[in-house]
Amino acid sequence: MPNVAVIGSQWGDEGKGKIVDWLSSRADVVVRFQGGHNAGHTLVIDGVTYKLHLLPSGIVRKSKISIIGNGVVIDPWALVEEIKTIQAQGVDINPDKLKIAENAPLILPVHGALDEAMEVARGNKPIGTTKRGIGPAYEDKIARRAIRICDLEYPDVMREKLERMMLHHNALLKGLGAEQVSADEIFAQLMEVRDEILPYIAVTWKVLHDAHIDGQKILFEGAQGMMLDVDHGTYPYVTSSNMASGQAACGSGMGPDQIGYVLGITKAYTTRVGSGPFPTEQDNDIGQFLGERGHEFGTTTGRKRRCGWFDAVAVRQAIKLGGIHGIALTKLDVLDGMEEIKVCVGYELDGEKIDYLPASQVKQAAVTPIYETIEGWQETSRGARSWGDLPAAAVKYVKHIEELIGAPVTLLSTSPERDDTILMQDPFVGK
Ligand code: GDP
Ligand code: IMO
Ligand code: MG
Repeated sequence: MPNVAVIGSQWGDEGKGKIVDWLSSRADVVVRFQGGHNAGHTLVIDGVTYKLHLLPSGIVRKSKISIIGNGVVIDPWALVEEIKTIQAQGVDINPDKLKIAENAPLILPVHGALDEAMEVARGNKPIGTTKRGIGPAYEDKIARRAIRICDLEYPDVMREKLERMMLHHNALLKGLGAEQVSADEIFAQLMEVRDEILPYIAVTWKVLHDAHIDGQKILFEGAQGMMLDVDHGTYPYVTSSNMASGQAACGSGMGPDQIGYVLGITKAYTTRVGSGPFPTEQDNDIGQFLGERGHEFGTTTGRKRRCGWFDAVAVRQAIKLGGIHGIALTKLDVLDGMEEIKVCVGYELDGEKIDYLPASQVKQAAVTPIYETIEGWQETSRGARSWGDLPAAAVKYVKHIEELIGAPVTLLSTSPERDDTILMQDPFVGK
């Protein structure tokens, strides 16, 4: 039985939370391996909505272990608040169930201040970040300045690291004309929060290896999506981590051969929050229709998501770069009632046809999509729980997408509700 990694194949918000929650009934452990509380994963179970940012989407199930892996950047205050919010919704969260990697780096208030100041400095070309301090926290990790979860046990180490870190950041903040941040203040805040985090600290790589040897099934939960990957996405309009499936290994402390099946979560159309190239964007009535029907507002920032047609070129590329074996196609129901549906099957660049998205930001901004028009359907697919319940034209659309992207549709989602899901091939059984 292979383990399964779930990754986004577009620009995030593909419905990863819903699919991870659904799949977690088949798993024993769910582990987040990158990103931070820039993520917003929505679960709808019997009409009750749970919005998760740092907590793995297996947390709502009683007997599953949830792990926040070393590849995640953790804002301890945001985590404590999220734990309380989800507990208030009746979910049991305790150290037997939730474990945090001792080597995960922290997001501190200074990272939020830097994120904000850098966005201002970008003038009329901001990235449109979530302003959660994600980028600056990953910068500190790579610069070997980060305070990590395990440092919370040692106040002296924390203070010394903080002072060194603030020397660096305050010089930058001063240069940017932003307010300085005091190391003493952050230290005091850390001392207040640490008792709420310490009980959850664990040697998570060992927990994962022991579970694996014991024959338990592990579900790796990605955040964001391949087009936001810091190497392979629409750089610099990306987030500061890797989404490609190799990161599931690095960001949790397992080897790549311990991830058996990689499931790419893919929306039946495309959305993006924040700035950056989006070849199939429909800044018109169609985009408006998709946004309203799909309730396309950010789970984390509440920002309106940009909407457009399905981009088979970008998804095909994401499948190859991300090591995706099959996809879960979500939000098919949002397309119900459309006369015709367009799908991007290639790009035109300087009068030439190309079949991939180039890396240059100049070229990414210049490509224009080549569309195929597909017949829509007037019947409803919403809430369908079997292949036979789908309108014939919807089935045709799914089959055509499979051909264009070169990967099978393994799961299909037809509403936000957990059980409105059609299983074609169990990812835990394998390729
Ligand atoms: P994530 O970040 O990938 O977990 O996705 P988000 O939770 O940010 O956004 C996906 C949104 O679509 C959420 O509001 C989900 O409840 C909703 N959703 C997921 N699957 C479906 C589906 O098949 N149909 C519809 N209509 N909504 C869905
Ligand atoms: P989930 O896991 C969609 C986007 C931001 C911005 C860029 C950089 O819910 O799919 P950051 O704050 O990470 O430095 O912002 O990345 N972004 C997301 N967009 N879904 C997400 O997560 C995102 N996380 C970050 O909007 O464009
Ligand atoms: Mg989201």
